[in-house]
Amino acid sequence: MTLIERLRDLLGSTGVISELAEMSPYLSDERDLYQGTAACVALPRSTEDVAQIVRICRAEGYAVVPQGGNTGYCGGASPDGERQVLVNLARLNKVREIDPIGFTATVEAGVVLANLHSAVAEQGLFFPLSMGSEGSCQIGGNLATNAGGLAVLRYGTAGELALGLEVVLPSGELLDCLTPLRKDNTGYDLKSLFLGAEGTLGIITAAVLKLFPAPTEHQTAWLALPDTVSVCKLLSLARRLSGDTVTSFEYISQASLQLVTGHIDGIQCPFTERHPHQVLMELSGPLAVESLRPTVESILTQAMEQGLVTDGVLADSEKQRRQLWRIRESIPQAEKHAGRSVKHDISVAIARIPEYLAAAPGRLVGIGAYRASIYGHIGDGNLHYNVLAAAGDDPVRFRSEHASGASSALHQLAAEMGGSFSAEHGIGKLKKEDLAQFKNETALQLMRVLKKALDPDDMMNPGKML
Ligand code: FAD
Ligand code: MLT
Ligand code: ZN
Repeated sequence: MTLIERLRDLLGSTGVISELAEMSPYLSDERDLYQGTAACVALPRSTEDVAQIVRICRAEGYAVVPQGGNTGYCGGASPDGERQVLVNLARLNKVREIDPIGFTATVEAGVVLANLHSAVAEQGLFFPLSMGSEGSCQIGGNLATNAGGLAVLRYGTAGELALGLEVVLPSGELLDCLTPLRKDNTGYDLKSLFLGAEGTLGIITAAVLKLFPAPTEHQTAWLALPDTVSVCKLLSLARRLSGDTVTSFEYISQASLQLVTGHIDGIQCPFTERHPHQVLMELSGPLAVESLRPTVESILTQAMEQGLVTDGVLADSEKQRRQLWRIRESIPQAEKHAGRSVKHDISVAIARIPEYLAAAPGRLVGIGAYRASIYGHIGDGNLHYNVLAAAGDDPVRFRSEHASGASSALHQLAAEMGGSFSAEHGIGKLKKEDLAQFKNETALQLMRVLKKALDPDDMMNPGKML
């Protein structure tokens, strides 16, 4: 039997796609940076299916590329040839258990993030991982990229929300670390090997995730600030005055706001005047005993007295809150409409963000005319310093001529400041050279040792990351 016949035998005729036209949506990536090829797309329905697929591929000499919602930004889920099988986890999508006593959810890897939000909300519970792609990205992809998003400041990254994992190893064996235990000091924390591994060490098939009581109140403000030092000072003030209930603290430059208002319909700008620096700040609380409203008002009063905030809008309704969030979450879409950006995802110590922002333009002089769309999770020290062609210039030509120069300049600056060139989007194919350049040699060597030990034949997502 051929590989495809063996896979059809296992998964049924609807579980294997081998026609090019049908495979096509799985082969291109979110940013259209890569056009992949594969022997076929396999769609397992169970953990045992995944293990069998890996065993069959191993026996037939094929590599395996795991894929979740295919929303990743670095080409990690793009297959690279006729000897690779793309394993898409979409049909492995059951919420196995929600435990309202232990505050955990046991979910399969293919559960779409937004579907998990709804499932736990039905029980008055809350899963805090949140990002613009949540209607498509999957829990397995979130964990494999150790995704960040909009509430890391309060709740942590995807990896920090995982208590246990179930993983199919390159050998085809099942690693069962699917535990809800919050404390378990019985040797190496094996699950952490697979968080951020981008499918290079195994396929995550299920996870136990931390849940929280659903917030009963949100206080959401859109604020104008005179400079970026004030942005950092406001974050510190808000955290101290609010008893650390600041959930999100997102930075939006005027240029990013202008892209949104220029390209997205139905956006209501919070201010009539232009402000160079803006912040979307949200406080949330699980307890309705005392409203957070006086707290947020007192933060804003003190911030204004100290000259940290020059103007502000405080959402008066859930509708207004959603409108404010829509502005922030529309930035990636607006950049797409503007001809796409060269994306960056750097992090530095929060207090050094102003220094990074002051130095970056000097590093970019070599690329000629450009527009910078700067925004992101400043509460985590993570900025998207995205670079676009100047208005009227050809965006495709700009990217082909300047993407590499802009990225090396901005990544180099982050490295010089003790930061990271990839805070939340990962490595994939796109940033392999940066990893080789910026990761310290001992750490890189240890990564290679781990890869070799778990996947000696390089069959699990080859050509990615290392
Ligand atoms: P995919 O793109 O399918 O895969 C990503 C990587 O994980 C690949 O290497 C793949 O091989 C591997 N993988 C997937 N599933 C598995 C599995 N089950 N087991 C092992 N490996 C697997 N990211 C952020 O961090 N923060 C943001 O705020 C954010 N905002 C975004 C907004 C938009 C509009 C878009 C389009 C993307 C955004 N992203 C963001 C990027 C992306 O959504 C995340 O990286 C997400 O976690 C990827 O999940 P996915 O299921 O789409 O994974
Ligand atoms: C975001 O924070 O919106 C994403 O991580 C960045 C992007 O989509 O460009
Ligand atoms: Zn982001």
